[in-house]
Amino acid sequence: MLPKVSFADTDSYKILKDHAARMNNISMRQLFKQDQDRFKKLTSCFENILLDYSKNKIDDAVMSTLTDLAKECKLNEAIEAMFSGAEINETEGRAVLHTALRTQSDAPIIIDGENIIPEIRAVQSQMKSFSEKVISGQWKGFTGKPIQHIVNIGIGGSDLGPVMVTEALKAYSNHLKLHFVSNVDATHIAEAFKLIDPETTLFIIASKTFTTQETMTNAHTARKWFLENGGSEKDIEQHFIALSTNVEAVQKFGIHPDNMFRFWDWVGGRYSLWSAIGLSISLAIGYDNFSDLLKGAAAMDTHFREKRTASMPAVLALLGIWYNNFFDAQSQAILPYDQYMHRFAAYFQQGDMESNGKSVDRNGKTVSYQTGPIIWGEPGTNGQHAFYQLIHQGTKFIPCDFIAPAQSQNPIGNHHVKLMANFFAQTEALMNGKTSAEAKTDLEAAGKSPKEIEELLPHKVFEGDNPTNSILVKKINPHTLGSLIAMYEHKIFVQGVIWNVYSFDQWGVELGKVLAQKILPELESSELVNSHDASTNGLINAFKAMR
Ligand code: F6P
Repeated sequence: MLPKVSFADTDSYKILKDHAARMNNISMRQLFKQDQDRFKKLTSCFENILLDYSKNKIDDAVMSTLTDLAKECKLNEAIEAMFSGAEINETEGRAVLHTALRTQSDAPIIIDGENIIPEIRAVQSQMKSFSEKVISGQWKGFTGKPIQHIVNIGIGGSDLGPVMVTEALKAYSNHLKLHFVSNVDATHIAEAFKLIDPETTLFIIASKTFTTQETMTNAHTARKWFLENGGSEKDIEQHFIALSTNVEAVQKFGIHPDNMFRFWDWVGGRYSLWSAIGLSISLAIGYDNFSDLLKGAAAMDTHFREKRTASMPAVLALLGIWYNNFFDAQSQAILPYDQYMHRFAAYFQQGDMESNGKSVDRNGKTVSYQTGPIIWGEPGTNGQHAFYQLIHQGTKFIPCDFIAPAQSQNPIGNHHVKLMANFFAQTEALMNGKTSAEAKTDLEAAGKSPKEIEELLPHKVFEGDNPTNSILVKKINPHTLGSLIAMYEHKIFVQGVIWNVYSFDQWGVELGKVLAQKILPELESSELVNSHDASTNGLINAFKAMR
């Protein structure tokens, strides 16, 4: 059970309101002038990760009240409840134990009277030996050729994690070609079919429930394609693998039990890349690298569990709450300056928005405050040429996380220092902005006339004072990536605890799914539809007429 403290009723909440009013009158420029040690004080290091949070609208008093807030909301108790396997996903009656999937310790974790560690280790060794067989070419397709293509069919957490990680760690990948099919739009699988051949393709059907419409539709289409292109029923077992919690449904689909990699209902979909769902990662980069990913995450888990409110995840979470609840920030940008990390923000869009996109608290009451932010972002420098204008001079207040490696996986010419020059320039510009006096000096230096200066000046001013976190890592390798992912996962957890919401269910996804099931037969029949509101009826009938 999680504590159920009402966030807005805490003493710290009220004090933070006063701090926010005070901080509104001090710029970050001033804060840096006032304290020469600000960088030293407001940075923290974990292994090869440096978090600089000095470019935030905070001072010691703010940080200490944010820490008090976490304590008042009983964060420490919540952390212990999660790690020890308490049923903290109360609305689904489940424990939340993605941390157990990556623990390096064999200390027992008991769920329903059973120690889950031996089962986890068994699936990990199944993943290791399977990955080795496929990578080495020992696992053959139905004509005796080794596997060349892996098609992961899954959606949401059964897709985004493997996609994000295999992209982020592309520098570690082997000869296997990875393809991901998630959308029920046939175009997605049709395009994959163009790139693969049945003799050398392994389909991984990744679905926790093994009932998700998109995944099952794509899985049946893949099966049909395989059978129509030379494969036979008996060949299915060499070409179809399942990653799931649902043994019965997997068997019904025709996948051999030996080709099923299990996980458990205490693994949330969006936290499942550490489980059997990570098989495509292990195939792409080898099990040893996958294991390093787990180790990196485990190291962050230990840091979080030991340092609690002083940990990197907690600091990021508290800063997020500071802007979300006291400065009306609606969104949070995640901006990796690493092309390989181009799906990182998309991954945490699900991770964060599906977790904390809630408006009812753990007491069953509608919240009176803002909860989860909109998460978005693209890699630098592409983002700079797309949406940074709005961050610099628009009307929205957008805190940003900048993430970059010091060492590039592709050290060609001076690309990396150019990339990093942009990284540093952006966070500096966002904080300092440009005053009217500075802009005027620039315009004068550019030889503009007084009239031109008068007209141009307002457009050349940057208000600045936009907060950023800079997360500088030595290199994006499996270990560091594991730590970074775990850091953001725990950030989401801390925020959910403080906002007093249930972060591990996703009932909001259900309504649309149920309605789609009702509408499907209506689309397939020739009858006019009149069972919905006028707009929905009108659209459905127009669609049927256009087909
Ligand atoms: O989007 C809702 C959701 O339930 C996610 O939480 C999950 O990751 C995804 O659907 C896929 O579910 P499954 O793995 O059961 O197919």
